[in-house]
This record gives sequence, structure tokens and C-alpha cells, in this order.
Amino acid sequence: MFAEPSRASVHSNALGFDGAAAYAPQSFRVQWASDPWMVAQARCLRREVFCVEQGLFNGDDWDEVDQTNASTRLLVAVSCMAGQPDEVLGTVRIHEALPGTWWGSRLAVRRDWRHHGKLGSALVRLAVCSARAMGCQEFLAHVQSQNVPLFRRLHWAVLDEMDRHGRRHALMQADLAHYEPCANPYAGYVLGARGAV
Ligand SMILES: CC(C)(COP(=O)(O)OP(=O)(O)OC[C@H]1O[C@@H](n2cnc3c(N)ncnc32)[C@H](O)[C@@H]1OP(=O)(O)O)[C@@H](O)C(=O)NCCC(=O)NCCS
Repeated sequence: MFAEPSRASVHSNALGFDGAAAYAPQSFRVQWASDPWMVAQARCLRREVFCVEQGLFNGDDWDEVDQTNASTRLLVAVSCMAGQPDEVLGTVRIHEALPGTWWGSRLAVRRDWRHHGKLGSALVRLAVCSARAMGCQEFLAHVQSQNVPLFRRLHWAVLDEMDRHGRRHALMQADLAHYEPCANPYAGYVLGARGAV
């Protein structure tokens, strides 16, 4: 179920070159996952990043927030070819823990697509903006310490610091004044090939 190969990686493997270097999507879309293949690829990506690359979880990071919290939404950044979503390159999830209090977690961008198109930043933006449209009064995340500068630039403040899953994390809060509610999260945002929304 989770070994589904992406269309682009099939092309890359067959032609024997690196995906990010040779594969040139015309645009990207950041949206709530709307198809089973998006969920499957996002789950694959999370396992690749949080289990294999970072070793934070053993085997699978899918947990009760994914399985039992009715408010949980999975967001994806997808490449688009001919205007159609083609492949998941990034993901994050959001959930409401208490009325009005939302959390973001499991932010990941595929390794060969980091620093390319501001995919991580756009995922954070849609996470907070779509939660705001659902009544979010406070948006929080445990952010790995190496990513604190990125979140600061996105108007987040550090509230606390702690160790989680064997890594240093900061509890951070988004300044909601910088995040307009997004009421159409399945459409989300379109980013041009250079990353401009
Ligand atoms: C964190 C992560 C999601 C960022 O994704 P990304 O798509 O590379 O981020 P963006 O392209 O939106 O970054 C925007 C800017 O911040 C910079 N940036 C990215 N990561 C950064 C970091 N850790 N510290 C400082 N700046 C960073 C980028 O270079 C870019 O700079 P620019 O605007 O000058 O070009 C990605 O690095 C990742 O998946 N890391 C592994 C998993 C992880 O750490 N998850 C987060 C858990 S809190």
C-alpha cells in the first residue's frame, strides 16, 4: 500500500537520472489531500523522512492523531504537469487538540526538493490559514531546533524548549495576524515553478 512508486520516480529510474534535476514541473499546488494517492504518497514521504532519514520513529510514524482525531487534516505539496497534480513532494498535518487550539506536525519536504520552491513555507502557510478558517484562535507546533530560524521568518515565536523523540525542539506559536483565513483548502495555493504564489 505504501510502496506505490511516484510517476516521476518511475521516469527517473527508467532514464537513470536524478528526479529533481531533470524533472521540471510547471507549477506546484499546496492543498488539503483530496485523493487516496496523495495520502499514500504523503505517508510514504513521512516514513522516509521521520523514520529512515531522521530515525525519530521505528518503522512508521502514523499515530493516533492520524487515526482517531476527527479534526486531523493532511496537507500536501504536489508538483503539477499540464495543470494536473502529479506527485507529492511535501506534507504536513494539522489537528485541533482543544477548542480553538490547533497544532501542526510532521512537516516534511522530499529531500531533493528542499530549498527549491518554498514548499515548506507554503505548507506552513496553508496549515495555519486553513485552521484559521475553521476557528483557530491559537496555532502551535513543536519545531526541531534546526528549523527555528525558518519558522521565525514565518512570524512564529518560541514559547519553550524541550527534548522530544531524542531531539531538541522548540514549542512555537504562529502570529495569526500574518495568516489570512483560507476557506478553500482543497484548492489551496498554486506556486509557480520559481516558488511565487
Ligand atoms: C524543514 C523543511 C520542511 C523546510 O522545507 P523547504 O521546502 O526546504 O523550505 P522552504 O524552501 O520553504 O524554505 C524557505 C526558506 O528558508 C530556508 N530554510 C529552509 N530550511 C531552513 C532551516 N532549517 N533553517 C534556516 N533556513 C531554512 C530556505 O533556504 C529558504 O530560504 P530562501 O527563502 O532564502 O530561499 C525541510 O527542510 C524538511 O523536510 N526537513 C526534514 C524534516 C524536518 O525537519 N521537518 C520539520 C520538523 S519541525
